[in-house]
Amino acid sequence: MLTQLKVGQFRCFEKFQTQFDPGINLVVGPNAHGKTSLLEAACLLLRLQTPRTNRLSDVIRHGERGLLVDGHFNGAHLQFYYSAQRKKLALDSVEQRTASEYLRRGRVVWFSNSDVELIRDGAEVRRRFLDFIAAQVNPPYRKSLRDYEKCLRSRNLLLKAPVPRWREIHAFDEPLIAAGEQLISARHSLLTALRPLAQLAHANISGAREKLDLEYLPNASAPLAAALSAARPEDTRLRMTTAGPHRDDLQLLLAGAPATFGSEGQQRTLVLALRLAAARLLEAHHGEPPLLLLDDIFGELDLSRRSALLQQLPKNAQQIITTTRREWLPSDLEARVLDLENP
Ligand SMILES: Nc1ncnc2c1ncn2[C@@H]1O[C@H](COP(=O)(O)OP(=O)(O)OP(=O)(O)O)[C@@H](O)[C@H]1O
Ligand SMILES: [Mg+2]
Repeated sequence: MLTQLKVGQFRCFEKFQTQFDPGINLVVGPNAHGKTSLLEAACLLLRLQTPRTNRLSDVIRHGERGLLVDGHFNGAHLQFYYSAQRKKLALDSVEQRTASEYLRRGRVVWFSNSDVELIRDGAEVRRRFLDFIAAQVNPPYRKSLRDYEKCLRSRNLLLKAPVPRWREIHAFDEPLIAAGEQLISARHSLLTALRPLAQLAHANISGAREKLDLEYLPNASAPLAAALSAARPEDTRLRMTTAGPHRDDLQLLLAGAPATFGSEGQQRTLVLALRLAAARLLEAHHGEPPLLLLDDIFGELDLSRRSALLQQLPKNAQQIITTTRREWLPSDLEARVLDLENP
């Protein structure tokens, strides 16, 4: 569990520190008091990324050069400093050259009131969801993803040249394919493991009204090498790599129809089920539940979904729940309260 969190020059905070308890922690405060920012800091500390942005420079307090997050998780002291010039990671005060040992310490599932984006937005948010979970289930996934993205950027840059030089472009094919095959295979396994857990969570929250299904939609037909060479005319025309897992999607179905047709409530239930399934999967895989970060989701749910969700959350998981209004929560909820308006 996360016992202590300190932040410096992080979003609206110049300096802030707090303690957390095992079980439920409530972060309460009016809008724009830094509730989501605190969850982001916890997520950044454990996973070195935040679901709110791909650019860490957004998270540095305006006008400052670098941010710091520092905390204790399961007895390990984690520290991360980030600026445009420099990244520094330390585990128990020992500076780390790579993130792999550091990232083995903590796992996170993030629930947010904007999770319906997973249904309504483009494929990128769904890939990000899969990537975030896959890297926590299977740590080498992160390296495959980075290798793949690096080759893809280089290959795309060469494709932009007025006359693409194919010999140079092909030099990236082999590492691109190697990393890409890893991603595809890991995403297949992830979906196989996630599907029954999501269906169960969904049945428990919705009272088993309609069946949820998840389908992995790989962009490239196997094997990737053949798909890549078949895409050469298209790549030349569009001046970018058009085949590969950077264009994969996750299809979400309710009673056999795309979830985009679902009602507001159906869509919210579906995304909750997905997040719960991710929490269950990480718990089963690592023998302990992830840290659960719940950003302002209770106001969006009706009473029955609210209590179903609270019951479905892994019992022994540490939870940090933000809310503007405590009325959403059951009055008998036992929790540590952090009031950002009156600290
Ligand atoms: N890089 C940044 N530097 C300084 N301030 C920032 C930065 N990014 C965001 N903020 C500000 O931080 C404040 C807190 O934002 P945050 O999203 O954490 O609030 P919140 O308490 O979750 O609010 P809400 O209840 O509306 O969700 C906002 O006023 C926001 O404009
Ligand atoms: Mg917020």
